[in-house]
Amino acid sequence: MMRHQLFRSAAHASALSAGRTGLAAPAWQQAVRQYSIAPAASETKLADIDPSQLVIERTTNPKPLKAAKDLIFGRNFTDHMLMIEWQNTTGWQAPRIVPYQNLSLDPATCVFHYAFECFEGMKAYKDKAGNIRLFRPDKNMERFNKSAARIALPNFNGSALIELIAKFTKLESRFIPEERGYSLYLRPTLIGTQKTLGVGPPGSALLFVIASPVGPYYPTGFKAVSLEATDYAVRAWPGGVGDKKLGANYAPCVVPQREAMGRGFQQNLWLFGEQEYVTEVGTMNFFVALRNKETGQKELITAPLDGTILEGVTRDSVLSLARERLVPQGWNVVERKYTMKELDEAANEGRLIEAFGSGTAAIVSPVRHISWKGKLINCGLKDHEESGEIAAKMKEWIEARQYGDDEHEWSYIC
Ligand SMILES: Cc1ncc(COP(=O)(O)O)c(C=O)c1O
Repeated sequence: MMRHQLFRSAAHASALSAGRTGLAAPAWQQAVRQYSIAPAASETKLADIDPSQLVIERTTNPKPLKAAKDLIFGRNFTDHMLMIEWQNTTGWQAPRIVPYQNLSLDPATCVFHYAFECFEGMKAYKDKAGNIRLFRPDKNMERFNKSAARIALPNFNGSALIELIAKFTKLESRFIPEERGYSLYLRPTLIGTQKTLGVGPPGSALLFVIASPVGPYYPTGFKAVSLEATDYAVRAWPGGVGDKKLGANYAPCVVPQREAMGRGFQQNLWLFGEQEYVTEVGTMNFFVALRNKETGQKELITAPLDGTILEGVTRDSVLSLARERLVPQGWNVVERKYTMKELDEAANEGRLIEAFGSGTAAIVSPVRHISWKGKLINCGLKDHEESGEIAAKMKEWIEARQYGDDEHEWSYIC
């Protein structure tokens, strides 16, 4: 794999320089010319992540716990972090849990220049018996590996990383409040660490996991949000990387979010194409419930995984629960493209029942209005309501599995 990528890069460089001079480089030169990247991986099998090699160095300076009510998302971190280094010559090194600390990286490190970075967002929950549980961590590992592969970062055995995350999370158990709605947000991150300004597959990488205790997204109950449909910027496009969790996908989304907020909307709604297909909301997947124009049947609709949508773990959970529990009640559950025009029409005809975002942070986020082409589309909530029925049920059903009240295979006991 590495060898193949290296060869392609070298050939590409030669092709570029040949283009400049008008002369093709000789074949021998094409084969050996390289950027300043590390040598190709040897033929020997590279080591995978091995949890049995874990070394733990405990902190001698434990942090005081913050009062649960003072927790702000992503601001406070636990005592330790999990770190695993990778080299293209040897593979994954022994995993280490060490005191939470700064990273020291050369300014030429490739992550700073070419965004060799991908990440995951997942949570650990404490159940009534005090067990720590992860929610569908296999899904996060699958997505993490797909993101890594897309930017030439190394893959790894997902089960081995889950085992290590479970150990790390148990070590940090005192940071997870017992109350419902609280959890430990986990941020697995993978970066290219090779010191080079050459553009090529990183010869070294670092996988680390940090953890941040978080409170309920809606401490005083649901608060429906209003959205601005963004028509001047797109988040993702066919053949792009919008379906991967790359850091590089997120920074460009902040300006449209800030613009929407400046006009009084809590989030922006991402559209795609001249047809104005509805794709995602902020950093969540998006669902609408409406009555079918022809049949009158109730439908729960979300955009399909066509490469422009992040494969949300919560999205998958909502779809699965809807198929299990709403279909028997007469609902149709559909993954298909749908447009703003369709939503507007459904709202005008009184067929739009509700709309909500889905994601790990909030589980569901009910939507009251969408601003589009100067109109304010009402998504079906009455003035006194903060959530529709489906969003409220989904939150209840998913939380029951996260906290182990509804014992289910989605819940991984650490
Ligand atoms: C762009 C985007 N879409 C959707 C989601 C929801 O994904 P998940 O349900 O796995 O949290 C996220 C969350 O991280 C996201 O960043």
